[in-house]
Amino acid sequence: MGAKETAKALEVIGFDEIYLTKRLTDGNKRIPGDRTIQDKRGLLLEHFNSFKDCTKCELHKSRTQVVFGDGNPYSPVVFVGEAPGEDEDRQGRPFVGRAGKYLNTKIEEVLGLRREEVYITNVCKCRPPGNRKPTPLEISACFPYLKKELDIIEPKVICCLGATAGEGILGKKLSITKLRGQTMPYPYNTKVLVFLTYHPAYILRNPRADGEFTEDMRKLKELIGL
Ligand code: URA
Repeated sequence: MGAKETAKALEVIGFDEIYLTKRLTDGNKRIPGDRTIQDKRGLLLEHFNSFKDCTKCELHKSRTQVVFGDGNPYSPVVFVGEAPGEDEDRQGRPFVGRAGKYLNTKIEEVLGLRREEVYITNVCKCRPPGNRKPTPLEISACFPYLKKELDIIEPKVICCLGATAGEGILGKKLSITKLRGQTMPYPYNTKVLVFLTYHPAYILRNPRADGEFTEDMRKLKELIGL
């Protein structure tokens, strides 16, 4: 990749600045054999560049652009949503609409972190028309991209936002109302835990669930050791 292309990719995925607080990097830096920050950024860039023109499913026909994950590749938690909406499709970044604003507030108020200090992505990288749910076929076409992204970051916890994200990651049907607030093993890496909670858009439609979401974020905070 040339310097110009790298700069463009950095801009697209929001890595123009690395936001790392000491407490988030110290632990990571001490892991023997762990990759350097530059390595993780480089690996993600390379990965994103490899599928920016993906045509594996129908969604490529209506998308404006592929929406990659963004944030801190050394975050102990990766938030995984469903798929980009209209705002995300236009801006090329995940969770920049109303649901994203709600999520940012909780990350700040409950986890005590800035959005840029965590990593946020989606199971499906392209916007489904009319914001419909992505189909199982679309999710499975996109899964290798998500899996590789998670392999590179290897967070302590993958926080699935809503049933679609949970089903995409775990590969099975689940009820989020029954399983929210709970952890499960991540099928591809025993060092990583999967944590389930509501999708922020659900809370916007059902404000009474805000307390439960907050409670889940407190549990998440404990799980990631903050
Ligand atoms: N924005 C995203 O990026 N993902 C969602 O699941 C919802 C809104």
